[in-house]
Amino acid sequence: MTNNAHPLAGVIGNPISHSRSPRLHRHWLAIYGLPGDYVALRVQEEDLSTVIRTLPKMGFVGANVTIPHKVAVLAIADTISDRAALIGAANTLIFRGDGKIHADNTDGYGFLANLRQNAPGWIADAGPAAVLGAGGAARAVIAALIEAGTTEILLTNRTRPKAEALRQEFGSKVRVIDWVQADNVVEEAATVINTTSLGMTGAPELRVPLDGLHPGQTVTDLVYVPLQTRLLATASAAGCTTVDGLGMLLHQAVPAFERFFGLRPEVTEATRAAVLG
Ligand code: ATR
Repeated sequence: MTNNAHPLAGVIGNPISHSRSPRLHRHWLAIYGLPGDYVALRVQEEDLSTVIRTLPKMGFVGANVTIPHKVAVLAIADTISDRAALIGAANTLIFRGDGKIHADNTDGYGFLANLRQNAPGWIADAGPAAVLGAGGAARAVIAALIEAGTTEILLTNRTRPKAEALRQEFGSKVRVIDWVQADNVVEEAATVINTTSLGMTGAPELRVPLDGLHPGQTVTDLVYVPLQTRLLATASAAGCTTVDGLGMLLHQAVPAFERFFGLRPEVTEATRAAVLG
């Protein structure tokens, strides 16, 4: 929190015009009657350090960070949370009163909070978790699953060496399965998570065979445009519990908003509606 009478925060990325974060934070500022504002900031890679070092001097109390700057900000921050270090990326910067910049990552928190809110019966160690994809989002998901108590993670990625690299980092709880066997992974798992961009509007479809999906499984997709991906539609028809990806976006913003503006906001149907607006 801050003694700044009109605290500013924003999201730094490039491109940034598609970001839903300003709408989300402004909605919370409005419903809680708090002073402040939240803006989208398009910043080029070569200007990143200068911009971040300047923002606190302009009344900014912190910032979110998105593609393509989530890794680069670690080198700019003065302190880094254990989670951000483990994930190797940050999505939240806190500009402290003493001038230091602290980097944190709330993506894993958002992932778990979304599951817990929308699949209340979900148990982390009910069985293996299948993680499709081995990019930046997968790192946050794997770290969160391990922290929550999942004992086996079946990791499958088109480019197998990237999955192997994550196994090296996260340890023996991660088992790498070939991408061509992703259908077996989907069938065996208690929890299925798509962290790839497949199924997103404008991207190719996720073509993994989904015949093995069955009741008792929890299936979630980090893609939220569209809200109902082919994976979620198929899972829902197969009797699985499904959780869409918009909730992760909303929940990862909760700790950030609290740090920026001093109040822990709630994620409700109204929050979803405001962001989808
Ligand atoms: P993010 O930060 O969102 O995770 P990323 O690091 O670029 O983004 O990772 C994208 C993920 O989607 C990767 O797992 C990628 O697979 P590769 O490692 O093989 O590139 C996956 N992905 C993207 N396009 C894909 C496609 N056409 N088929 C299979 N996987 C794809």
